[in-house]
Amino acid sequence: DKQRSWEKRLAAGPDELTVNYVESLSYDTRLYKYDIVGSIAHATMLAERKLITQTELKAIKNGLIEISEQIEAGRFRFDKAHEDVHMAIEAALIEKIGEPGKKLHTARSRNDQVATDVRLWLRDEIEGQQAAIVQLQKAFVQLAGKHTNDLMPAYTHLQRAQPIVIGAYLLSFVEQLERDFIRLTNCRNLLNVSPLGSGAIAGSTLAIDRLSTACQLAFADIAHSSIDAISDRDFCAEFIFDCALTGAHLSRFAEDWILFSSNEFDFIRIDDAFCTSSSMMPQKRNPDVLELMRGKTGSLYGALIGMLTILKGQPSGYNRDLQEDKIHLFAAADTVRASLEMARAVVAHTQFKTARIAAGLDAGFLDATALAEYLVGKGVPFRAAHGVVGALVSLCEKDGRSLSQVSLETFKEHTPQIDADVYDYLGARHVVQRYASAGAAGPQQVKERIAYWKKHLAER
Ligand code: ARG
Repeated sequence: DKQRSWEKRLAAGPDELTVNYVESLSYDTRLYKYDIVGSIAHATMLAERKLITQTELKAIKNGLIEISEQIEAGRFRFDKAHEDVHMAIEAALIEKIGEPGKKLHTARSRNDQVATDVRLWLRDEIEGQQAAIVQLQKAFVQLAGKHTNDLMPAYTHLQRAQPIVIGAYLLSFVEQLERDFIRLTNCRNLLNVSPLGSGAIAGSTLAIDRLSTACQLAFADIAHSSIDAISDRDFCAEFIFDCALTGAHLSRFAEDWILFSSNEFDFIRIDDAFCTSSSMMPQKRNPDVLELMRGKTGSLYGALIGMLTILKGQPSGYNRDLQEDKIHLFAAADTVRASLEMARAVVAHTQFKTARIAAGLDAGFLDATALAEYLVGKGVPFRAAHGVVGALVSLCEKDGRSLSQVSLETFKEHTPQIDADVYDYLGARHVVQRYASAGAAGPQQVKERIAYWKKHLAER
């Protein structure tokens, strides 16, 4: 009959509907390595505490290693009737080695087991994600290095604001990604405690040694409340938030470059290998990759809300709701990783059309703020200078001139403090050279910051 080893108190095997509804095997098999490592640590501790013999430990270890190799080689048959990866591996172990296998689950529940597995998995996942972040940062820094003297307009409200060097624009993403990296480090530090030995909820009457398993699995500490430990999924929510915020950064980047690659902007050319075409319009070079990056960020937000909502309203202790954590966790991790890798490739294969961008820099009065600051240098209070330049801009707009085309005579009519040296302050090129504040978007600041990033990222 279909009755399962851990359900002897139930009248018979579960209904087929139940089997299919409660299983997590279809998505949790990717935890298998961590499950096996956790089980070996647990068994080792049981032997230390004389709860199993050394011979039994050896049998368990060898059995688990064999199973691991079988899974790795794709020779393991997972059966949904086993519910999840934990029961599937335990059943296979018992089938392989018999009696000693039945002792593995001593003082352990799937509740502390799965909580441990997920933390172990996430530690590695975070490492991988951080590596992907660094790769993308390096791609941005590399591209920035090519454009420390090429100019572009900066936008606020998507209206032309001030001139910047292209490198400064690119480095702005490196800063965002740096915070993403640090957030992941924080997340990892906070999650790095061992729930193992918390059992189902209250611990065990057997004299187990939780520090031993924590130590074997390189956790920094044990989780000190068994009740909290088996239902704590804060780290899942936090990690998915980190993914979602990285998604927000990637989405804003994608949105910029979708605009920049349009005919209207025409600032960049993304390599053909990272464009798509149209089934109907033969001329098209579409930035679908970037649109999907923007779209997938929506899925990341969905995962975050999914996770948070699962946590809400559960009574204390383990509830099966928690099994759904992995759906959102894995989806978020996979999605953000794919987007990070895609972004790196796009950045590495995109060219800025520097001459074209430079040719358009006279439009939009990018030097207006610098002109007001020039007047400050001549003793005019900033608010008054702001007014003078505002009036000049409005005058220029009427007859289609730029500020540098205004005659000294006209300037003087507006404010006597303006001298002939004003022309060394106007125009995007002059403005950018004059940026004097730390972190500003001029060539000097960018060169220094690129040097910083090169060193910092190489040390990672
Ligand atoms: N597969 C479950 C999970 O992912 C663990 C099972 C815990 N089951 C239970 N009946 N307590 O959370």
